[in-house]
Amino acid sequence: MTPLIIDTDPGIDDAFAIALAAASPEVDLLAVTTVFGNVALSHTTANALRLLALCGRPDVPVAAGADRPLVHPTVHRASTVHGNDGLSGAADTLPAAAHDVDGRHAVELMADLLRQATEPVTIAPIGPLTNVALLLAVHPELKPKIGRIVAMGGGAKGGNTTAAAEFNVWSDPEAAHRVLAEEDVPTVLVPLDLTHRCAVDAAWLDRLAAGGAVAKGLSALTPSYRETYRRVLGVDGMVLHDAIALAEAISPGILRTTACPIEVDCSHGPGRGATIIDQRGYVESPRRLIDVAFEADTAELGEFVLSRILG
Ligand code: BDR
Ligand code: CA
Repeated sequence: MTPLIIDTDPGIDDAFAIALAAASPEVDLLAVTTVFGNVALSHTTANALRLLALCGRPDVPVAAGADRPLVHPTVHRASTVHGNDGLSGAADTLPAAAHDVDGRHAVELMADLLRQATEPVTIAPIGPLTNVALLLAVHPELKPKIGRIVAMGGGAKGGNTTAAAEFNVWSDPEAAHRVLAEEDVPTVLVPLDLTHRCAVDAAWLDRLAAGGAVAKGLSALTPSYRETYRRVLGVDGMVLHDAIALAEAISPGILRTTACPIEVDCSHGPGRGATIIDQRGYVESPRRLIDVAFEADTAELGEFVLSRILG
C-alpha cells in the first residue's frame, strides 16, 4: 500500500477524490490536509471532516493549513462553481463530522507523517499549492521521504479562471512556481487539458445516484456543479478534475505523461497564474522536468473512479 496524503480544498470534485482514495486498497490514506481555495479554510476543513464521515473513515486525521496565499494578499474563491459552503449548499446533507480536526498545522502534520514513514509517501495536492510549498520550504530534509507529488492544476492551453490561469495555480502562483518549477521532488501534473476531456456523462451520474450510501451522498452534491459545466463547457455530465489526479496517485501510470519543464507566470498582468509548459522536446532546459499528464483512456478512468465509489 502506498502511503498517501491528500491536500485539498473541498470542493465537489475534491469530494470525489477523497472518496476514491478512501475506497482504494492500493493506498494507505495517512491524512487529509486542508487549504483555502474553492471556499474559505473553515469550510474546506469542515467539509473534509464530513466527507470522511460519509466514507466511514474517521481514522484519517484532518489538519487545517494555509488560509491565504503565500505572498499576494488577494484570496480568490470558486463559490460560483462549488456553492457558498463548497459543496453546492448541500454540505448539511452529509453526515456530521465523526472526529475533531487535528491540532497541528497541516504542514506540521505532513512533516510528522513523512518523518515516521518507512516507505515513500505520495502527496496529492488538489487545491492551491500553498501548504505543499510551505512544507518543502520549511522541511527540505523531508523531501527524500516524498515518493511523488501528484497535483491537479494548470493548463497548457490556458485556464478556467482567467484566460491564462487554472484555478489552483491562479489562487497562489508563487506557491505553484515553487512546487512545480523550483523543487526537485518527482512530480506529476494533471492539467485542465486532460481533466476536461475526462468529463463523465449523464449515464455515469445516473449509476452514481443509484449506488450505495457514499455514492448517493456524493450524488446529492452534484446538481449545481453539473449545471455549471453544462453552461460553461456544454457538457451533459461533470468534470472530475481532482479525482483524475487521485486515480494516478492510486494507480501509477493510469495517465500517460510527457516530461516537460514548466514555469508559472507570477507577474501581475493578464498572464498571472499561467503554466508555461514547454512541450517542444528539442530544447535543452536548465529547469527540471515534471511529468505532465496529457493522455489517458477516458472510458477506463470513468469506470475506475465509479467502480471504487460504488464499492
Ligand atoms: C480545480 O479548481 C477547483 O475549483 C477544483 O476543485 C479543482 O481542484 C480545477 O481547476
Ligand atoms: Ca480542488
